[in-house]
Amino acid sequence: PKVFYTQPDGTERVVEAVAGDSVMQTAVRNGVTGILGQCGGELSCATCHVFLDGGYDFPPVSEDEDDMLDVAATDRADNSRLSCQLVLSDGQEVHVTIPEAQL
Ligand code: FES
Repeated sequence: PKVFYTQPDGTERVVEAVAGDSVMQTAVRNGVTGILGQCGGELSCATCHVFLDGGYDFPPVSEDEDDMLDVAATDRADNSRLSCQLVLSDGQEVHVTIPEAQL
């Protein structure tokens, strides 16, 4: 899989990912700025907030994810997701935009 990360200023970075990793883990491992993932994917921080650019085959937002998105540092939008919940599969190409602030 590949993840295309767009920063708030429009800069894009493409990262080769490993299937089974989340969009959050892929960002943290590759030093993509703006995705913190402070809780390590436990749905208790919302510092992995992203805007998912397009329709992808991910499970819908769970109740816990929905609650955390409400307290994200940058206001949520219709396409907001917590990137620790976006687990990549083979061949997938995912585009996300990183919000202005995570804290
Ligand atoms: Fe904490 Fe995603 S890493 S909610």
